Amino acid sequence: MVSKTIQTQPFTDQKPGTSGLRKKVSVFQKPHYLENFVQSIFDSLEGYQGKTLVVGGDGRYYNRQAIQIILKMAAANGFGRVLVGQGGVLSTPATSAIIRKYDTFGGIILSASHNPGGPDGDFGIKYNISNGGPAPEKVTEAIYSRSKEIESYKIVEAPDVNLDTLGEFKVGDMPVEVIDSVADYAELMESLFDFDRIRQLVTNGKFRMCVDSLHAVTGPYAHNIFEERLGAPSGTVTNGKPLEDFGGGHPDPNLVYAHDLVEILFGNNAPDFGAASDGDGDRNMILGRQFFVTPSDSLAILAANAKLVPGYSSGLTGIARSMPTSQAPDRVAKQLGIECFETPTGWKFFGNLLDADRATLCGEESFGTGSNHIREKDGLWAVLFWLNILAVRKQSVEEIVTEHWQTYGRNYYSRHDYEEVDSDRANTLITSVRAMLPTLKGKRYGSYEVEYADDFSYTDPIDGSISQKQGVRIGFTDGSRIVFRLSGTGTQGATLRLYLESYEPDSAKQNLDPQEALAELITIADDIAQIHKLTGMDKPTVIT
Ligand code: G6P
Ligand code: ZN
Repeated sequence: MVSKTIQTQPFTDQKPGTSGLRKKVSVFQKPHYLENFVQSIFDSLEGYQGKTLVVGGDGRYYNRQAIQIILKMAAANGFGRVLVGQGGVLSTPATSAIIRKYDTFGGIILSASHNPGGPDGDFGIKYNISNGGPAPEKVTEAIYSRSKEIESYKIVEAPDVNLDTLGEFKVGDMPVEVIDSVADYAELMESLFDFDRIRQLVTNGKFRMCVDSLHAVTGPYAHNIFEERLGAPSGTVTNGKPLEDFGGGHPDPNLVYAHDLVEILFGNNAPDFGAASDGDGDRNMILGRQFFVTPSDSLAILAANAKLVPGYSSGLTGIARSMPTSQAPDRVAKQLGIECFETPTGWKFFGNLLDADRATLCGEESFGTGSNHIREKDGLWAVLFWLNILAVRKQSVEEIVTEHWQTYGRNYYSRHDYEEVDSDRANTLITSVRAMLPTLKGKRYGSYEVEYADDFSYTDPIDGSISQKQGVRIGFTDGSRIVFRLSGTGTQGATLRLYLESYEPDSAKQNLDPQEALAELITIADDIAQIHKLTGMDKPTVIT
């Protein structure tokens, strides 16, 4: 095996964000850029010699080239074996499942999640640890520090592996196994959900559903699970052919970017159920006929109905949600008498709680829901969970959600995003709101009175690690909240996120449009943060 050591110089911008390192494809194509980061990952790990690594990505542009480089670097650095998805494709949840099933050392996921792909789009890379979850902050910080001083990387000279053929190959002396991208994941889903019951529902001739894969990674998974294993009519899965540029679309399952699906579900003769997932398959959006389920409500409803699903029939140990996610799940946890955790944004913060079995279900407002079956959020898992509930309860999505609100009250919720704001302006805005925090308590704004105002800081209950400055919260005495945060996943300028929430216990008042129900809070938020003035934008770019 010919292994070479290549001299390099550090890049200063390889700091992982909310979910790994994300940059424009052209940045990753700079000489040594990807290699430096991969070597920084390996240099930050201990004890991987001879062990197995999983590698896969969402199939976006540059996935295949990056995988060939990573295989050669893994061989040169002494990994014992690599499992790689066929065609270089593994969804993020499938990667997590495979790391756990085969007890591997860790995995590398190539994805920029919901960000657009193609030569002018984004690319990304992140490392997952042996529990199948994203590396915790102490690991990502070590990778970043290493990337700032790296002087060389190791790579073997070897021909490229044929990623399209299943079976075992060699890169240098290291075996590489090209594995079926779907099988292990689909089997895991069969072990959690009542496939017989879901099959009865989706083949009864009356129930109609539509699953939009947005030309991203879930296409093959969705075809296999919904159409082949569950027998849903062919055509149930739309945009199921993964494309390197996602067909030019924005593979983000929300009301704005999944507009084709939204038009179908809100159109005439709409089907009963619709769902979409993102570029790498970890996000989900759930729709009923003319009905949108907010991700926060979705988590609360899955938790309240978990006992109907075989994999969760013995109950939940706890629920965890990210701080900006609405407090709807907290009400369910209280009713069930289980713990509820509030973590910073980023799936990595759920890892310890899941490992310690303190939480069974987790979710985020950013269209992420998941459980202890893996250590990533899981788009198709959420779809199957909903289908399982629908199959047992024999009610519509709308009926299930409105009954939930009648029982627990409704947490009106919305997120306003201001994208591609000049970074200095965005930082000025957050800094000035931070500076106001000590003066806000007790202040009145219209009918609202501020109960607390702080910058969210999280102490992990398992390992005691502290994460500070995770978003500015302003809470009012009636339980309403305004939260300001800068996104950690964008690649251009800054994205300001404004999260708004109010609580309505009266079922007669639970049918408003959230923008209407939250109108006063929206005005208060602008009053406090001067969003329009400081961003120079008169309205948000995306409202979800
Ligand atoms: C990714 C992460 C999530 C996070 C989301 C939004 O999907 O996996 O955990 O909630 O990004 O992050 P952002 O920093 O852009 O708000
Ligand atoms: Zn994703």
